[in-house]
Amino acid sequence: MSITAIKGMNDILPGEVETWQFLEGKAREVFGCYGFSECRTPVVEKTELFCRSIGETTDIVEKEMYTFADKSDNSLTLRPEGTAPVMRSFIQHKLYNLDPVSKLYYLGPMFRYERPQKGRYRQFHQIGAEVIGVEDPKIDAQVLAMLDRYFREIGIDAVSLQINSLGCPECRPAYRQQLIEYLETRLSSLCGECQRRYQSNPLRVLDCKVEGCKQATCDAPAVIEHLCEHCDSHFNKVKNHLQTLQIPFTVNSRMVRGLDYYVRTTFELVTDQLGSQNAVAAGGRYDGLVQSLGGPALPGIGFAIGVERLVLMKGADQIAPEVPDLFLAAMGDAAVDQAFVLMSRLQSQGVRAEMDYQGKGLKAQMRRANKLGARFTLILGENELQTGRAQLKKMADSSQQEVSLEGLAETLAGQLK
Ligand code: HAM
Repeated sequence: MSITAIKGMNDILPGEVETWQFLEGKAREVFGCYGFSECRTPVVEKTELFCRSIGETTDIVEKEMYTFADKSDNSLTLRPEGTAPVMRSFIQHKLYNLDPVSKLYYLGPMFRYERPQKGRYRQFHQIGAEVIGVEDPKIDAQVLAMLDRYFREIGIDAVSLQINSLGCPECRPAYRQQLIEYLETRLSSLCGECQRRYQSNPLRVLDCKVEGCKQATCDAPAVIEHLCEHCDSHFNKVKNHLQTLQIPFTVNSRMVRGLDYYVRTTFELVTDQLGSQNAVAAGGRYDGLVQSLGGPALPGIGFAIGVERLVLMKGADQIAPEVPDLFLAAMGDAAVDQAFVLMSRLQSQGVRAEMDYQGKGLKAQMRRANKLGARFTLILGENELQTGRAQLKKMADSSQQEVSLEGLAETLAGQLK
């Protein structure tokens, strides 16, 4: 039996990869404009990094990580997200000594052992960005402005921004306690999962998709009504800055996010085009994270976009693959040899040139030129070899012109503009 890819992990093939390259290229372009530099971290990290940052009682750490022991019995994990590795790298290389503000972005595969379905995979890709070192709410708005700009650039507008504030270590414990007490009065209406974790992670109950849980908690206390003065003022300023920048948003006081490192501002870009996997991008502030991982007390904020979800929204075949500029059709052994040399020369001069390698007849060669979508063809026979001139055919309108083989690259450069 032939070997297939692992469930929930997909190949990205020609025809579809062009959309990926477009989405990645636009991210580099847009993020570059906002002063971000790329940071590439390994796909495997010490397991402890994720337990300490994402949180022991989260779904990711409790049940979704690809964790294994290497041959020296170290516990390693395929990264389930990009923020913790980037913070690890930031601390390890003391990037804070280079600049008080670090703006980093990353692109790459992440791994979560989730039940695969449309928009949810076990290997998926994120495009993420992180700013470390700024507490001012202007940066929250700036990060959201960049996200907004990116979505405009890639032509996806069926998304809406939801924001919330989760408070900080000062105001959240009291709210958390109040929420636990509220949930206790409704325990019998909650699903088993929520009954199990309402004390260890009560905020997650607000995020439960089970209808019974939603109904039972519809009037649960909202965290934004229990913010301390500092968090409240921060949240108000973020909203004002977003209004100034004309970035539309709604406040979703039930949005809690599935990772423990968040404080204050959190957000999601949601769509109604992807069924239950409705978050196309998500993020927020994580002011205590760098310090908790052994670095200096620096605030941070960022987001990650799910690339598979972007591709589903955009359509995998929206970006046309590159076609050959020129197909060289040759008749006879001498012409085939000459075409091969000519093709190699043209390729080294930047022309996308193609030919047939299977000794096919002229008709079959022309069929292949058509199938590949070549923009021009050139037929080489004995006569052309002797005169050094040949007919260049433009496939779009079948017009022909005589050209010298010597200056072919220049002639094509003029025509391909
Ligand atoms: P997250 O909400 O876990 O946040 O993931 C961000 C985005 O990744 C989601 O909104 C979704 O589009 C995509 N995503 C997550 N899981 C899957 C999956 N199994 N299949 C396909 N796409 C998926 C984070 O990962 C944070 N690190 C974001 C962040 C950056 N916060 C601050 N900085």
